[in-house]
Amino acid sequence: MQISLIGFMGSGKTSISKLLANNLNLNCIELDELIINNSKFKSISNIFDQKGEDYFRKLENQELEKVILINTNFILSTGGGIIVNKDNLLLLKKTTVIYLETSFDVICKRLKEDRERPLFRDLKKAYQLYLNRLNTYEQISDFQINTSDCNKSKILELILEKIN
Ligand code: S3P
Repeated sequence: MQISLIGFMGSGKTSISKLLANNLNLNCIELDELIINNSKFKSISNIFDQKGEDYFRKLENQELEKVILINTNFILSTGGGIIVNKDNLLLLKKTTVIYLETSFDVICKRLKEDRERPLFRDLKKAYQLYLNRLNTYEQISDFQINTSDCNKSKILELILEKIN
């Protein structure tokens, strides 16, 4: 079983992936963590600040390709911008794609203390990014789960209902 979680920053991809992987007894892969571990950088913002977004996107595509081609069973937590690269969409389509849909208001509340995410430093730009990406998240996903009003165990329950 290959399942990928997509959605904007702060939609809960990492925590829901862990819960889901635990429940299904599958390996949980966090793509951003993999990118850092397989590079000489110590954080995602470090990559953005030293090498720029395009460089990060190349690493992101390489790691995604490896994950999907090498592993047969996993829950993959992707970064919010995974869908900006067309090649990534084709790769993701080989897996079951779950879109964690979250309102921008809720995302702002969740990320208000966050200084780590380079593309969330400027709120106006982040909102534009959010709007630009919504269609692709919807189109690429097999199904979507609204996470704005649900707690984590409810979200897990909804996902399990859909995949079983
Ligand atoms: C990004 C989201 C981040 C990370 C990077 C770029 C984006 O992951 O990959 O900062 O373009 O939305 P999260 O969605 O886990 O925050």
